Amino acid sequence: MTPEQIRKAIHDIRKQTERPFAVNLFVSTELAEDVRHHIQHGLEVTRPFRDTLGINEPVIERIQESFDEQLHVIVEEQVPVFSFTFGIPTKAQMEKLKEQHIITSGTATTVQEAIQLEAAGVDTIVAQGSEAGGHRGTFETYPHLPMVGTMALVPQIVDHVNIPVIAAGGIMDGRGVAASLMLGASGVQLGTAFLTAEESGAHALHKQALLESDETSTVITKAFSGKEARGYLIRSLIIFVQAPPLPRTRYNMQ
Ligand SMILES: Cc1cc2nc3c(=O)[nH]c(=O)nc-3n(C[C@H](O)[C@H](O)[C@H](O)COP(=O)(O)O)c2cc1C
Repeated sequence: MTPEQIRKAIHDIRKQTERPFAVNLFVSTELAEDVRHHIQHGLEVTRPFRDTLGINEPVIERIQESFDEQLHVIVEEQVPVFSFTFGIPTKAQMEKLKEQHIITSGTATTVQEAIQLEAAGVDTIVAQGSEAGGHRGTFETYPHLPMVGTMALVPQIVDHVNIPVIAAGGIMDGRGVAASLMLGASGVQLGTAFLTAEESGAHALHKQALLESDETSTVITKAFSGKEARGYLIRSLIIFVQAPPLPRTRYNMQ
């Protein structure tokens, strides 16, 4: 969302409730110089698919919002809770949040990340197990993507930090909540369980796919954004893969 869209959403929420709420952002840094070149290359590689399917070339005006500008709105609006993933805000950004007494919550997928978040002054940690839907919040560099399950991750993070830990990943009902509390979590965060709710903005087909899925239906994929995320393997993906073979000479398949 643009900073102004975030401000409007905050105002809309405040019109509907006086209760505390959180705003969540992706912590991002400035993009590398050559990113436009990569995007151009990506557009060329995917052009044959668009030609086959009759889809117009996307117009990319802005690649990403400025995290600093988005955060400025959170601070200015004195949002009660600010949660984030994919990294840690800078020292200066953390100070601004603290000045406004905004409670912060950062995502960790490993013990090392949790320790870093605590050292940066974050108030609570979301321990995101490998079962979690959506993007992996991993921000440290590892030889392979860490995929520590919620049951293993939560107690290990609890043992290494002194701030409240919120368990996330694969929790679907009261049994998961009780188990998380037993593992030392102070709270839980559910994502997938709410996707089919009336209030959810998920597309009807997305909701239907969820309801028709089972425990074997999800995969970790980079298809959404280039960053690993857990998603559903649905028919449209298979159809996409079955598109007519592309002329290999037009681009390097790797
Ligand atoms: C569709 C979807 C979108 C998500 N988007 C975000 C996000 O923008 N920011 C974030 O911190 N976590 C995001 N998450 C992750 C959740 O915060 C949480 O870690 C996860 O949903 C917990 O696992 P569960 O889906 O098994 O309940 C998303 C999860 C899903 C399923």
